[in-house]
Amino acid sequence: MKVLIIYYTQSGNTMKIAKCIGRGARDAGAEVKVVRLKDADYEMLKDYDLIGLGSPTWKADTPNMHAFIDKMPDQGGKHCFAFNTHGTLPHLYFPIVIPNLKSRGFLPIGYKGWYGDVNMPGMPKPYYTMGHPDQQDLDEAFAFGREMAENSAKIAAGDTGLIYPDPEINDKVLEQALLCSNMLLSPTNPQGAFIRDPEKCHYPKCHVCMDNCTMGYIDLSRDPQVFGNRGDRCDDCHECSYCFMICPFGAIHTEDPQQFERDRGVRHKNFEVMLDRDEAEGTFRRHIPADEVGFDTPYIYWHPERPYLKVPRDKGGLDD
Ligand SMILES: Cc1cc2nc3c(=O)[nH]c(=O)nc-3n(C[C@H](O)[C@H](O)[C@H](O)COP(=O)(O)O)c2cc1C
Ligand code: SF4
Ligand code: SF4
Repeated sequence: MKVLIIYYTQSGNTMKIAKCIGRGARDAGAEVKVVRLKDADYEMLKDYDLIGLGSPTWKADTPNMHAFIDKMPDQGGKHCFAFNTHGTLPHLYFPIVIPNLKSRGFLPIGYKGWYGDVNMPGMPKPYYTMGHPDQQDLDEAFAFGREMAENSAKIAAGDTGLIYPDPEINDKVLEQALLCSNMLLSPTNPQGAFIRDPEKCHYPKCHVCMDNCTMGYIDLSRDPQVFGNRGDRCDDCHECSYCFMICPFGAIHTEDPQQFERDRGVRHKNFEVMLDRDEAEGTFRRHIPADEVGFDTPYIYWHPERPYLKVPRDKGGLDD
């Protein structure tokens, strides 16, 4: 059995999980390749029996993984599984992603998500989910990888009862759909437009934002240069803030950083209720007590040096 795992990661959580899933599948006897989304292409899918696709959770899923799936040629019933890491709004991901995978002709045989620390400019630091993925998460990812490789072989031999049931559209999904649609329908993104200061920018010596823009949207080699968003949701930028977070020279700022401050504390009441529930159900472990969550220290104040966030050093593969 040959297993290909394709993942996207911004701050490293999904990368850790992807590699543990890969090791688990290898432990079950599979030949495994783990690649970053930016190194994946549709041609390589043909060489594998089972494809794993994973990303962080953003609103419902992640726009670049979504685009990769949307444009995929029909997979003719090939087995796949989906995985993610997430913060405090995890429940929309699989109800969106599993039908998308089916629409590309995949047979999704399983799916699983894990909590991950959250690194966003205006989010509290420490965040509720700091410390995840923890060792238990990594062990579960290993076991999930084993399970997927073993199940795929059994399902191919006729044991279709092992296919996970479709994700439920339950109250948790609907509750988060309301929260997310409220954010999505807002005509402007919370931090306003991203602005690049040409005086501080070191292009062409530096091209970190171009190489790592989530949507492959930034292109400083063009005339006029393509950068950032207009803050009105009318372009290809998905307002993920990554360019702002990773610019080594502080050349990117937002038009209204105070906006982060205004947002503080409001939606967190919802998050606390949801996390208490997941803790009671055993899917979430608190490494940070609720009263130590850093409402007074949003990420960019807690971590003032530049870059705010380092791009994970990763070339794909299984063993590093
Ligand atoms: C732009 C952005 C949007 C996010 N949206 C969500 C979300 O809607 N729901 C959620 O549970 N977590 C959300 N998160 C948190 C990430 O899913 C979580 O931190 C994840 O573990 C990051 O994975 P990575 O380290 O592989 O990039 C978001 C993070 C970012 C940066
Ligand atoms: S990361 Fe910053 S310094 Fe580098 S090219 Fe982008 S804006 Fe310029
Ligand atoms: S916020 Fe920056 S990194 Fe994210 S999609 Fe927009 S331009 Fe790309």
